[in-house]
Amino acid sequence: MITELVILIFVVFIFQRIFRKKDFSRLPAGPRSLPLLGNMLDMKRNGHLKLSEWAEEYGSLFTVRIGMKPALVVNDAKLMKELFGHSAATGKFKTTTILELTKGPYGVVSTEGELWHEQRQFLIRTLINFGFGKPTMEPLILADVQEAIDWMKKDMNEHGTVEVFNMYKSGVTNALWCIVSGERQSKDDHTFSLLIDAFVDSVQNSVKSGLFFLSWLKTIAPESSGYNFLVKTTDDLHDYVGKLFDKHRETFTPGSPRDVIDCYLEQLHNAKDPKSTFFGANGEKNSLATIIEIFEAGLITSSHTLNWLTLYLTHHQHIQAKLHEEIDRVVGQNRDPSLLDKPKMPYTEALIQEVLRITSLVPLGVMHELLHDIDFHGYRLPKGLLLIPNMYHIHHDKKTWGDPENFRPERFLNEDESRVIRSDALVAFQPGKRQCLGEPLAKDVLFLYVTKIFQNLHAFPDPSNPKPNFDYDDGIVLIANPYRVVMKSRF
Ligand code: HEM
Repeated sequence: MITELVILIFVVFIFQRIFRKKDFSRLPAGPRSLPLLGNMLDMKRNGHLKLSEWAEEYGSLFTVRIGMKPALVVNDAKLMKELFGHSAATGKFKTTTILELTKGPYGVVSTEGELWHEQRQFLIRTLINFGFGKPTMEPLILADVQEAIDWMKKDMNEHGTVEVFNMYKSGVTNALWCIVSGERQSKDDHTFSLLIDAFVDSVQNSVKSGLFFLSWLKTIAPESSGYNFLVKTTDDLHDYVGKLFDKHRETFTPGSPRDVIDCYLEQLHNAKDPKSTFFGANGEKNSLATIIEIFEAGLITSSHTLNWLTLYLTHHQHIQAKLHEEIDRVVGQNRDPSLLDKPKMPYTEALIQEVLRITSLVPLGVMHELLHDIDFHGYRLPKGLLLIPNMYHIHHDKKTWGDPENFRPERFLNEDESRVIRSDALVAFQPGKRQCLGEPLAKDVLFLYVTKIFQNLHAFPDPSNPKPNFDYDDGIVLIANPYRVVMKSRF
């Protein structure tokens, strides 16, 4: 067995050398890699920190290996925008593990080419019709925030401290649920929330075990690599949302869509051209995959950003005081905040930008793969090259930010703090052709949550655990360790 393994590694090593000579010899230099595993052992835990260390050593572009595949790591915001804005850079890294999440190349996140383009455009149009910036959205989100506030107050009364993440998660789930299915989630039904928790755990695990990028691990270690768990959590999520789809079908009337699911049913109903990505069985699979992706991509990112924001404000009371001051001055205490207040609240906006920067929730963004060869800053980048946007490094680069380790919303304000300064080096939504399409919705949700929660409440450290702790669980997203705070009513 050992001899066979050694022979296999040797053959792979020789193959890699030949392969590298042929196509990848003119890539930027980078750290040495192992046969078969590439640089995965170094990047297994806190890969973003290792890549940022290497960025200091190798500069704005360097090459690593994800298993046997070379990957270009981009550590500079300008280069990142230019590269990811190239249509050749819209390909996706499609390991069988990644495709497991959508049960094949369906939907938006894991697809490319015409399929991706048609599905992405339709999702954006549909979300504009039922989500972004609609006056109907605002009261809906505010009702969820009010519910979160009531829960926090109840939890405070019962336990003296509160774990805010659960409130944020159920609030954001509800907002997305309403947009997608036109209904509010029942308060007592935690099934969906538990399915999402299990799904996130399984994805984080499979990133840590290396399975996410090295699919062959599923064959030799299906249990310990987390493959079986990942298959179970995705199956469960697909079953649950599939049933929601079927339930909608029973009451759907062509021509009068009530929500996002109805828009998809309408599109499926009207698709008569076999070339359409909405036609037939594949159309059904694309639609289901996309609906699930709205939750997968939107829920975890938005709720964990709010969770981080509360943790930072708890341990930076002077910043919380400035936020309270702005809310009191612009909104007061007798009405709900509104998106119309946003232009008059530069401090709140700067605070949200600073949280997106310092936490870098998706630290290495989402990997892309080149669809064809391109020339880029003196290098010939070959088809099939993986592209890693090192967003964590870009957000923590001393040359750009001066004091990146400090939590300081003022860095996003002009001198007299009356205006927000946009920085091209803030890349949390991964600028480029595939830029996060949920950005407007996420920003609206974050603004309404922050203003209404802190209009009503003041966050203090848990007296039994008062020391700031910004440790996290790393994976595809950086998740703050569970914490409790004291949330006191402000009036
Ligand atoms: C703070 C909140 C959020 C952050 C930090 C975030 C971040 C990201 C990032 C880094 C990507 C990868 C883009 C790429 O591959 O180039 C992405 C893609 C995506 N996001 Fe978000 N996101 C957030 C909220 C949302 C919300 C609320 C939605 C729901 C509508 C959403 C839906 C998507 C979708 C569907 C994609 C795939 C786009 C594509 O591949 O064409 N995101 N997001």
